[in-house]
Amino acid sequence: MTSSSKPKSSNAMWGGRFADGPDAIMEAINASIGFDRRMAAQDIEGSRAHAAMLAAQGIITDSDAEAIREGLLTVLSEIETGSFKFSTALEDIHMNVEARLRELIGEPAGRLHTARSRNDQVALDFRMWVRDQVDAALGGIVALQKSLLSQAEAGADWVMPGFTHLQTAQPVTWGHHMLAYVEMLGRDHSRFADARARMNESPLGAAALAGTSFDIDRDATAAALSFDRPSANSLDAVADRDFALDFLSAASICAMHLSRLAEELVIWSSAQFRFVALSDRFSTGSSIMPQKKNPDAAELIRAKVARIFGANTALIMVMKGLPLTYSKDMQEDKEQTFDAADNLMLALAAMTGMVADMAPQKENLEIAAASGFSTATDLADWLVRTLDMPFRDAHHVTGSLVKLAEDKGCDLPDLDLADMQSVHAQITEAVFDVLGVHNSVASRTSYGGTAPSEVRKQIARWKEKLQ
Ligand code: ARG
Repeated sequence: MTSSSKPKSSNAMWGGRFADGPDAIMEAINASIGFDRRMAAQDIEGSRAHAAMLAAQGIITDSDAEAIREGLLTVLSEIETGSFKFSTALEDIHMNVEARLRELIGEPAGRLHTARSRNDQVALDFRMWVRDQVDAALGGIVALQKSLLSQAEAGADWVMPGFTHLQTAQPVTWGHHMLAYVEMLGRDHSRFADARARMNESPLGAAALAGTSFDIDRDATAAALSFDRPSANSLDAVADRDFALDFLSAASICAMHLSRLAEELVIWSSAQFRFVALSDRFSTGSSIMPQKKNPDAAELIRAKVARIFGANTALIMVMKGLPLTYSKDMQEDKEQTFDAADNLMLALAAMTGMVADMAPQKENLEIAAASGFSTATDLADWLVRTLDMPFRDAHHVTGSLVKLAEDKGCDLPDLDLADMQSVHAQITEAVFDVLGVHNSVASRTSYGGTAPSEVRKQIARWKEKLQ
């Protein structure tokens, strides 16, 4: 559209006050039906609860409530089967549903909006939509944890290099590494669960902003819609979008965790590492290089955090300057939240499949674990324990031994005793026991450590928890 077109002659919604219809550009910027139709089910569920409450309170008749109930079910099935005609002139899902209800049942439809406003209606619909997404995220996280746990169990005692700065640090077990992500996802799960508990208050009945003079029963609608309680302040109820921000920030942190795992899979599946082989089902080929098997799913998961965190930032920016209560700015809460939710669910599902399918390369992991002087700390600890050396001195002696091995082009266990004693005379043959990677990991039995015995305890704990 390059210029605004002529106003329509009449107004579809506010005929009483408005003589003219909106400019086409106004309609384009104002309408949300293009996206908020995704909340149709929540909108209709909320309206059904509201109508039932109005009848129970004697505010509308039982027969009107019954007509509304039947009509709303028809509207829902029309939307579900795709026969519903959405109208941009009717702005949003709320007005679209109500207008169709009026076509279907006539006058009683006009009574549905008694003691309600689109402000509490949209706050309700969106809250219920987000709550459903929280539940989906909780389920998706558990599924991924189970995938990781199976991997951990299969390789509880396999050794691999543990890294800091992406430099070989100390040998760790594969199971331990998998469980690190199970822990992260456990915190993500609790963040979503916290968000759910906090958001589970019903705004319905706050009406436009001040509550209503009708004798409504907010406890009844809250209970009917599975909320813990009605919200206690009507102004806050229509102005609040914290629930979406709670969801988006939990989603951002979860997506960040997925991105870190994705990054590891990208590195591990490279020809230089060969720690894991990704399945054909979760990789792609190259159109020119026949040898290639690309970790596209991992790369896309790594990128998803950008748009999810972007949605979080966008909504905070939308909200930060708004005076109480509702402002139309808040209509911009939905699209990005929808997009973030869709992409989080996709990322969780793709990661779950990729982890379940991937084949860790036990031998390559073990070879890598033993290289890069990975047991230098074990050697220093041995000097402390056996020769009662202060750790700082042991660190220095070990550094000299690493240098010696490096000069000789070998690894620490390849030095002979004479080499060792040339650096420190009291070193004995027993030192070689701690230089092997399996002994190294087996010795790290401190709580939460990488020893297979500890890893198995943690696996058992998580298995019970995730049942
Ligand atoms: N489509 C609107 C939204 O998403 C619904 C609420 C409209 N309320 C209003 N006072 N104009 O926010």
